[in-house]
Amino acid sequence: MSVNERRRLTAVARGEAPADLYLRGATLLNVYTGELYAANVAVAGERVAYVGLRDDMVGARTRVLEVGGRVLVPGYVDPHVHPAHLVTPSALARHVLPLGTTTVFADTLQVWELGGLPAFRAVADALAPSPLKFYWMIRPQAQSRSAGEARRFRAGDIARALDHPWAVAVGEVTRWPDAWGGEPELLRRMELAHRRRMRVEGHTAGAAAEKIAAIAAAGFTSDHEPITAREVLERARQGIAVMLRESSLRPDLAGLLDALKEAPGLASRAMLTADGSMPAFVRDHGFVDHLLRVALDRGVPPVDAYRMVSLNAATYFGLDAEVGGIAPGRHADVCVLRDLGDPRPEIVVARGRVAAERGRLLAEVPEVPWRRALGSPAARLAVRWRARPGDFALPPRGRYPVARLVSAVITRLEERPLAAGDLHAALVDRAGRWVAPGVVAGFGDRVEGLASTISTDFNILALGRSPEAMARAVNRVLALHGGIVVVDGRDVACEVPLPIGGVMTPEPLAETAALEDRLRAALAARGYPHHDPLFTLFFLSADFLPHVRLTPRGVWDVRQARVLLPARRRPRER
Ligand SMILES: [Fe+2]
Repeated sequence: MSVNERRRLTAVARGEAPADLYLRGATLLNVYTGELYAANVAVAGERVAYVGLRDDMVGARTRVLEVGGRVLVPGYVDPHVHPAHLVTPSALARHVLPLGTTTVFADTLQVWELGGLPAFRAVADALAPSPLKFYWMIRPQAQSRSAGEARRFRAGDIARALDHPWAVAVGEVTRWPDAWGGEPELLRRMELAHRRRMRVEGHTAGAAAEKIAAIAAAGFTSDHEPITAREVLERARQGIAVMLRESSLRPDLAGLLDALKEAPGLASRAMLTADGSMPAFVRDHGFVDHLLRVALDRGVPPVDAYRMVSLNAATYFGLDAEVGGIAPGRHADVCVLRDLGDPRPEIVVARGRVAAERGRLLAEVPEVPWRRALGSPAARLAVRWRARPGDFALPPRGRYPVARLVSAVITRLEERPLAAGDLHAALVDRAGRWVAPGVVAGFGDRVEGLASTISTDFNILALGRSPEAMARAVNRVLALHGGIVVVDGRDVACEVPLPIGGVMTPEPLAETAALEDRLRAALAARGYPHHDPLFTLFFLSADFLPHVRLTPRGVWDVRQARVLLPARRRPRER
């Protein structure tokens, strides 16, 4: 904020200059004191200038919202969001602003993988004026280990990204075993944040209690991965700020909140997050408003629940002078509620403007110039190569390392001959230079051919019982410049085009959610037994999850860190 803006705020607060917006007659939830009392709110520009009962700053051109009988709470904050799951960050913002979310702390993985530092800057600059504020956590590493990682994630570039005005953290750091082990290169990357008094967003999925001390000592400042109340406490007791998660993949919040019964003091620090929820889940349940409903249903006192989705997140990131409460100097982000029991707002004020009313978006959310941001032919998947059935042939063997899905994302290793219900699987290089063949069981035994550019390392994942159908699915994905395609015989049974880098569509969230429904139904009809096929595809190549993964090196045994079936070069096209 400039000194002139500050001067104007003080003038409005003194009653010597007119406010732009004035909310009159409501009860205010003060998240700093936990009190509820009658107060009006005066806004100048993007900020709150005054909170109280005077109205001498109401002038001829002040827009006055009469909100008698309503409750004002701070705009909701999600401290850990993956904003590029099928939809663009802008499309997500357009959907969740009317639901009261006005600030997110967002991941950079997809953008960074597809375009590095320049792409991150293009995205962060384009979204800097968005009514939904995007703060950024900078990925220090790829999601999975691969040969080109050092080139794609240069420490100097990460440092430069952290100097962007909207960058606030390093994260998410998925390799907690390296943090636990004190691996120096990771610690150096985390130090880039510590040196700037920034946060390090951790990921400690599955880490046992006795490992948390070393992980905290390494410098993880938060974790959003606990799946039980006990794990919440184990992390919180070591000083790690815990983000309680309710996502499409892990709808765990109700159980996690039990930690508050054992340790009520946690309410002053815990945060709530929707993490990487997919569009259909957000359409069906909501976003941070949904987290609030779950918390209120679970008996969390309303003041605590609203604080967990506002002030606690702001304070954790050291941004409580900017967001997270309705007070002078802060961004004017206000939800007007019928009552505290119903977190869906009637009116949402974001950055000082009425951004939504009765569920309708009124504000303009800028879109990123994606062609410029992700302009390289590789990012756009503008390639000449095409897949052939032979790409998916398995080397002749008596026994294969089969990855059996035991949940949407967890696999178990079975070393055995091929059996009915097994699918051919392959990770194929985006540029067509190599293919890593494997075998997957428990995905859906009637899938003939499927291809997806939604994968942990942004290569192409193919699955199916017919190599011909798999090749057709991959080639259809290439023709679409990215997406998810299911093929039956010669026909495309279902497709989700993702023309922005193979990870996003420019369409609105509700339309994308409808495509997601169709894909889910198509896979369920072919035997898919779990609840989140998108995360199955996304994580089949994620080498930080147990136990067998399809990686660029080949089929990978996570626990023993060894290749079970190697990748091979694809013969060049003529
Ligand atoms: Fe996450």
